[in-house]
This record gives sequence, C-alpha cells and structure tokens, in this order.
Amino acid sequence: MSPFLCALRHTPAVVLAVVLALASPATASAQGQTPTPLAAPTAADLASGAKVFTMYCARCHGFDGSGGSGPPLARPRLRRAADTAAILDIIVNGIPGTPMPAAWMLSETEMAQLAAHVRSLGQRPEEALPGSPERGRAVYAASGCAACHVVGGEGSAVGPDLTAIGMLRGAAFLRESLLDPAAARPERGVAYEPYAYPAYVVVQAQPQRGPEVVGVLVNEDSFTIQLRDRAGRWQSLRKADLQRLHYDTRTSLMPTYRGKVEEGPLNDLVAYLMTLRGRP
Ligand code: HEC
Ligand code: HEC
Repeated sequence: MSPFLCALRHTPAVVLAVVLALASPATASAQGQTPTPLAAPTAADLASGAKVFTMYCARCHGFDGSGGSGPPLARPRLRRAADTAAILDIIVNGIPGTPMPAAWMLSETEMAQLAAHVRSLGQRPEEALPGSPERGRAVYAASGCAACHVVGGEGSAVGPDLTAIGMLRGAAFLRESLLDPAAARPERGVAYEPYAYPAYVVVQAQPQRGPEVVGVLVNEDSFTIQLRDRAGRWQSLRKADLQRLHYDTRTSLMPTYRGKVEEGPLNDLVAYLMTLRGRP
C-alpha cells in the first residue's frame, strides 16, 4: 500500500471527505453541488457580483433586477428562493423545465458573490409604476383580453394563463407584450435540456379540402398535430391530410394594442398585470 493510502486508512471520515473534495478536479457546478453563501459579503464582493449579474443575468432579469422575460429580483421575497442559499442553488442548477439556465460557466467564488448581489437587490424598493391597477382591471375587462387569457380561473386559454404574470415578468416586458406581442414572446423550457424554445408558435395548416386552420401549437407527434385556434377551439389534424403545414415563430395570435389603447390606460393595464401574483 502506498504511504498516501496508508495514511488515509487512519484518517477520520470528515478529514477524508475534505481531502477527497480538494483532490477532485470537478467544479461545484459540474456536480450540481451548491457552494456556501458568503457569511459577510464585502463591498468588493457585491461589486463583483453586480458585474457578473450584468453579464449573464440582466438580459432576462433587467440591469436593476426589475425583471424582463424573467421575474423581478428586486423584491424582498422571491417565489422560489427564500434565502441566499436557495438563490445559490438556483444559480448552480437553474430551474429545470423553465428558461432559467444553470450558470455552469461561473467559479464558486463568482457564484457566491452573485448570490450576495441578488440578495441585496431585494433590499431595494420595488419598481414604482405610473399606472393605477384598479383602472387597469377595468381596461382589461373592456379590451377582450379574457377571450384569450385566464386570470384566476376566468377566461379562455388561447394564450398564457396570466394569474401569476406579475411574478414571472417585468413591467417593461409586459408593456412590450401588449405593443408588440411577437417581439416579447414567452419561451418554454424543456426538462433536462439546457435551451429554451419559443412558446405559442403560430401554425398554419392547410387541409387537402376546406379552409386553412390557424392556431397556436399545443402538441404534435409524427402523425398528428394539435392546435388551439383564436376562438379557443382545440383542433386535432392528421398530418397525412394536410397540403401545407407552416410553423411561424415570428408572428403572434395576439393582436397588437399599439394605437388601440392610449398611453394612460396602457400604464394602468401594465400596473394591473404586475399585481397578478397568484398561483398559475
Ligand atoms: C434566458 C433568461 C434567463 C437568464 C439568462 C437568467 N434567468 Fe433567472 N429566471 C428566468 C426565468 C424565466 C425564471 C422563472 C422560472 C419560473 O419560475 O418559471 C427565472 C428565475 C430566477 C430566480 C427565481 C426567482 C423567483 O421569483 O423565485 C432567480 C433567483 C434567478 N432566476 C436568478 C438568475 C441569475 C442570478 C441569473 C444569472 C446567472 C439568471 N437568473 C439568468 C430567466 C433567466
Ligand atoms: C386572440 C387572442 C389574444 C387576445 C385577444 C389577447 N391575447 Fe395576450 N396573448 C395571446 C397569445 C397567443 C400569447 C402568447 C405569446 C404571443 O404569441 O405573443 C399572448 C401573450 C400575452 C402576454 C405575455 C405573457 C407572457 O407569458 O409573457 C401578456 C401579458 C398578454 N398576452 C396580455 C394580454 C392582454 C392584457 C390582452 C388584452 C388587452 C390580451 N393579451 C389579448 C393571445 C391573445
């Protein structure tokens, strides 16, 4: 037996675990292990964390953490992360099945500094919005949104359920969704895949006989395709019966409200949507 192994035989298990961990070249992220949060992050730690945030997180969560296609992080309580350790866990592993990616490219130190920065965002005041949520609720009811959206179980599910939309997106993204729906497109994650895909893809299907069917893609396999059309009707088609099948990720079934809703009511509508924080 080598002197190294011989020494190990007489080493307590805890020390052994540390020795093995130090000897292992694998990084924390490769193993999905969560590094320890910084006990007392310094100003320099927070500044490094802020830099990493700008580089890797701001495109979805906003530079100031006010949200975007991802949820606002400048809030005292996060839906999925009660403390810094939980934030670190999300940074290491991402949130499987959603567009939230794992930050495998960061070192343990960078991850810990980043988590401290995200935690510090929660101490900032929440973004103040210009509109009135009460008036926005009325704008929502008057604009026919419920023909395609569900809030708290009410409405039709052509588009996404909006019951918790204020927990999932930032105000600027929601505004963009109303003015340019195709540009502010929600994405969907796929479990065990690192990439997100466009959601609510518009499909145009031309049967051999009869009118074209247009709807959002719900499901498909090799032989059939299922769509939900503008009227909320579920359509299941056999691919063999189709003359043409076209997938369009650049248009939206949702009409633009640019020019249809004035600036004031638009602010109200966004303010209302940001208050929707129930369970989807
Ligand atoms: C491609 C867009 C995208 C990027 C880049 C991204 N996120 Fe996310 N993140 C999301 C989405 C979407 C969710 C919400 C997932 C869900 O709950 O459905 C999320 C959720 C989170 C949450 C939980 C929020 C809550 O309300 O509980 C934290 C914390 C978080 N992200 C931190 C980060 C950090 C830190 C980075 C940078 C390393 C980052 N994210 C990069 C899209 C992104
Ligand atoms: C004809 C159906 C239809 C109508 C009417 C409609 N929407 Fe949509 N909406 C959709 C679809 C489909 C999507 C999915 C994304 C896309 O295609 O742009 C969507 C997306 C959204 C999103 C983004 C959701 C996310 O997860 O990011 C918001 C917010 C939204 N709609 C709000 C509204 C509001 C408010 C109204 C009324 C003023 C409205 N919609 C009217 C079909 C509709």
